[in-house]
Amino acid sequence: MGMNLRGRSYLKLLDYSPAEIRYLLDMAKQFKALKRAGVPHRYLEGKNIVLLFEKTSTRTRCSFEVAGRDLGMGVTYLDPGSSQMGKKESIPDTARVLGRLYDGIEYRGFSQQLVEELAAYAGVPVWNGLTDEFHPTQMLADLLTIEEKFGHLKGINFTYMGDARNNMGNSLMVACAKMGLNFTACAPKELFPAEELVAKARAIAAENGCTVTLTEDVDEGCRDADVLYTDIWVSMGEPDEVWEKRISLLKPYQVNAAAMAKARPTAIFMHCLPSFHDTRTTIGADIARRFGIEEMEVTDEVFESKQSVVFDEAENRMHTIKAVIYATLC
Ligand code: CP
Ligand code: NVA
Repeated sequence: MGMNLRGRSYLKLLDYSPAEIRYLLDMAKQFKALKRAGVPHRYLEGKNIVLLFEKTSTRTRCSFEVAGRDLGMGVTYLDPGSSQMGKKESIPDTARVLGRLYDGIEYRGFSQQLVEELAAYAGVPVWNGLTDEFHPTQMLADLLTIEEKFGHLKGINFTYMGDARNNMGNSLMVACAKMGLNFTACAPKELFPAEELVAKARAIAAENGCTVTLTEDVDEGCRDADVLYTDIWVSMGEPDEVWEKRISLLKPYQVNAAAMAKARPTAIFMHCLPSFHDTRTTIGADIARRFGIEEMEVTDEVFESKQSVVFDEAENRMHTIKAVIYATLC
């Protein structure tokens, strides 16, 4: 089927059909093959993009920079302190200025409403590099990684352990529902995704022959899982005070050897990263000192195991982001 995403923003997966997501995944595979073969693909020479980050980033920023340069484009990075946005200039004004100068705008920040507003005013495609509610570029990398490991997406049993109402829990639930994976959120009730989003995801899942399940029970959540996925327990932008409560709520949902043993023997472990699996970070060391816990959402054993595909997943951020940029600008 012919597909044309030119001029579209990429703000959340809810806005994209399964066929459009499939198109982006297939395009990412082609870009990955070109990159691996060392074949230049400067298809967007002469275009420029700007990356606006109001929160920190390693993978998303570097993926946009490398993807943009591989496509032959100019790339400008604006960090949280170095633009006027929000402080001296409103979102609509910033959007209209940047839209005059650039062919596309990446935005990482706080509310989803901000990125939606930016897109409404920019006049050029806007790509959501993470908000409090959604992380849609991560979804393509995750789907691509699962497809590479299992050869298909439909029918995969996918379990997300941890804070299921953060940007990753929300996004993965929608991504699975769209692409036919059976999604389970395994979390304490108070960290279940919002009912309204669950209802939307269930309706989408019904169209695509898959299920959305919420459970507090780790045995039930991990049983027959093909993928165990987790994310950090406290997200960017949340106050330091939430750590204590979050640790006590989520400790039973840590992905450890016992959890992996409940899943299928062929199961893989996934994480969007960054991850607190040891004390080799300042926050990891600080949490260990304050709360006596040296590994958080995943144990070092699982993180470093053969079942862990986290670095393949991280690499796939770049190939999939390249597909989003190309498909919406070409
Ligand atoms: N997974 C992810 O978005 O990583 P960064 O925060 O480093 O961009
Ligand atoms: N939930 C995490 C995802 C990081 C990629 C956060 O928002 O900090």
